[in-house]
Amino acid sequence: MDLRIELLRKGHRPEDFDCGKPQLNEWLHRFALQQQDKNYARTRVVVDEKDPGGVLGYYSLLPCQLDTQHFPAARKLPQRLPCLLLGKLAVAVKSMQQGIGALLLADAIDRTRLAIAEVGGIGLFVEAIDDEARSFYRHFGFEAFRDDDRRLFLNVAWP
Ligand SMILES: CC(C)(COP(=O)(O)OP(=O)(O)OC[C@H]1O[C@@H](n2cnc3c(N)ncnc32)[C@H](O)[C@@H]1OP(=O)(O)O)[C@@H](O)C(=O)NCCC(=O)NCCS
Repeated sequence: MDLRIELLRKGHRPEDFDCGKPQLNEWLHRFALQQQDKNYARTRVVVDEKDPGGVLGYYSLLPCQLDTQHFPAARKLPQRLPCLLLGKLAVAVKSMQQGIGALLLADAIDRTRLAIAEVGGIGLFVEAIDDEARSFYRHFGFEAFRDDDRRLFLNVAWP
């Protein structure tokens, strides 16, 4: 496979995407392009050059303010801090376990670093949809909040 990561656009076929989780399918089918057009969130998709419209995986990224009350890091912090939110991330069932989830996450982390270098922020925040998703993010070094282990954070700003 010759994979590319691209911004979601009209030529893609998000409606064919199926990751096995209706909530994540529906968001891509119905809302991702709308939110992109309004600049509320950016969605990037993985496509194979042989079928440039077919979506094999996607993630969405947007700015957010993080409430630091139950934050994992043991340090004194302001009550709220700027952050990037990984709003969604999913891989099509037929393309799972081939490294596409890792590829998407690496791209999201790179873009978080770039955004933080430009405008500030402390890292990448995600709310895992279930325990399986939580375990995926833990595998990549995300730390769980003290009051809710499905809320996770990856520091990309502090040494
Ligand atoms: C979770 C998900 C994104 C993983 O995608 P994937 O393409 O199958 O994962 P990859 O093949 O890239 O796996 C990369 C690494 O993560 C590990 N991994 C994958 N799923 C994992 C899980 N649920 N828990 C722990 N580790 C996991 C793999 O073993 C692999 O490890 P390695 O780097 O040591 O080899 C995919 O299963 C998915 O889309 N699930 C449904 C939607 C979902 O739950 N999304 C989470 C957003 S809330």
